[in-house]
Amino acid sequence: MIRITFILILMLGIMAGCYYESEEQLYSGSGTPCDTASVTYSGTIKPILTNNCFECHNSVDYNLLGGGNNLEEFSTLRSLAEQGTLMKAVTHQPGYSFMPKGREKLDTCSIQKISKWIENGTQNN
Ligand code: HEC
Repeated sequence: MIRITFILILMLGIMAGCYYESEEQLYSGSGTPCDTASVTYSGTIKPILTNNCFECHNSVDYNLLGGGNNLEEFSTLRSLAEQGTLMKAVTHQPGYSFMPKGREKLDTCSIQKISKWIENGTQNN
């Protein structure tokens, strides 16, 4: 019995090894690299927010749907970004509301672009 358990564990280990290997192959180098070099508010961030956030956080519905956060208002967006709340919400940090609410996390590249925009000083460009 002990021997069978041992063999099973060994096999699981080998299978897990293969799994990680193929995962590495899937993600390393393949796919389009994320371009964060030319991130601007109008060209990069606003389209991400339009597609994923303004539905609830727009100037008309933000009280009803967006918890009082009007992200279409640049100064509000900037202060949420500078407080760190924006990044924590989109990266699903414990203690913050996970955004976009009730949906899948944004794709990694969009998150990287938001992070870069904040790093560059949340410019309205
Ligand atoms: C389906 C509606 C909906 C969508 C879509 C949505 N939000 Fe929210 N958001 C809310 C609500 C409601 C709140 C208020 C807090 C709560 O109820 O969780 C909120 C709160 C927030 C907060 C404040 C979080 C805090 O902890 O104080 C931020 C920042 C935020 N949203 C950013 C975003 C961003 C960025 C997106 C798009 C990537 C997004 N939201 C998409 C509904 C939404």
